[in-house]
Amino acid sequence: MSAYFPEPTRTRLFGEIEADVFRLGDAADTVVMITTMPPGAAAPPHEHAEHQIGMCLSGSYRMRVGDEERRLDALRGAYWARGGEIHGAVNESDVPAVTLDIKRRPQPALEGRATPCPAEARFLDLSAPRTVKGGLELRFFVGPWFEIMLSVLEPGALMPRHAHRGAQIGIGLDGDYAMEVGEETRRFTRHRVYFAPDHVPHMGLNDTDAPATSLNVFIPPRWNLLPRRLRESADAAGEMELADAAR
Ligand SMILES: [Fe+2]
Ligand SMILES: [Fe+2]
Repeated sequence: MSAYFPEPTRTRLFGEIEADVFRLGDAADTVVMITTMPPGAAAPPHEHAEHQIGMCLSGSYRMRVGDEERRLDALRGAYWARGGEIHGAVNESDVPAVTLDIKRRPQPALEGRATPCPAEARFLDLSAPRTVKGGLELRFFVGPWFEIMLSVLEPGALMPRHAHRGAQIGIGLDGDYAMEVGEETRRFTRHRVYFAPDHVPHMGLNDTDAPATSLNVFIPPRWNLLPRRLRESADAAGEMELADAAR
C-alpha cells in the first residue's frame, strides 16, 4: 500500500450522500473526503471534535458554519469549521454538487494565526492569480493557519523536487501529470489524493499537452505568511513550530 497516494474507500455519510474517503494516516488523523451531493441532499447541522476545511469542486451548495451561511460555487470560495463548531450543507440546486472536505484533529501548536486572514473568518475567497517561474499559475484560499493553493500546470510545467516542514495534501481536479512523493511516482488525475508529510521530497511535472489543475493544502501556510513579528501563536510551542516552518 502506498504511503503517499492513499486509495479511497466509498462510504455513505448522510442519507443518499456518498463520499470517497482517503485516510492519510498522519498524527492528526487527517481524512480527505470527496463527496457527491445529489440535488436536494443535505448534511444536517452537526459538530465533531475535528476541524473541517472544505469547498465546492463542481456545481454549488449552501454551507453553514456557526451562525454564518454562504453559497459556495465551484472553486470560488472555501470554508473552515473549528472543532466543536456547528456546520452543515445543503444542495439547493438542481444538479449534483461535488464537495471536498478535510477533517483533522486539532493540532494547537500549528494553529496560531500566521497569515493576513483574521482568526475568526470562516469563509475564504479565492485570491487573484500569481504567476511563478516554471509555468505555474497559483491562486489561494488563505485561512488563518492553513492555505489551499489552486494551481494550473501548463504543458511542460515543472514544480521542482523540494522538501519542507509541514504537511502538503494534493487533490487532482483536471488533466493529468506525473507526481512524485518520496520514492513513489504516480499519474495524478481527477479526484486522486497525494500526501507529502513533513520533510518528504516531492515534485510535479506536467508531461502532457493539456493543462493540469490541482488543489494543494499547506499546513502551516507557506506562501501567504505574515512577517514573523505579526504572527499570533496559539501558545509558545506554536511560535517555535511556525518559526521553523517559515525557514
Ligand atoms: Fe462535519
Ligand atoms: Fe511542497
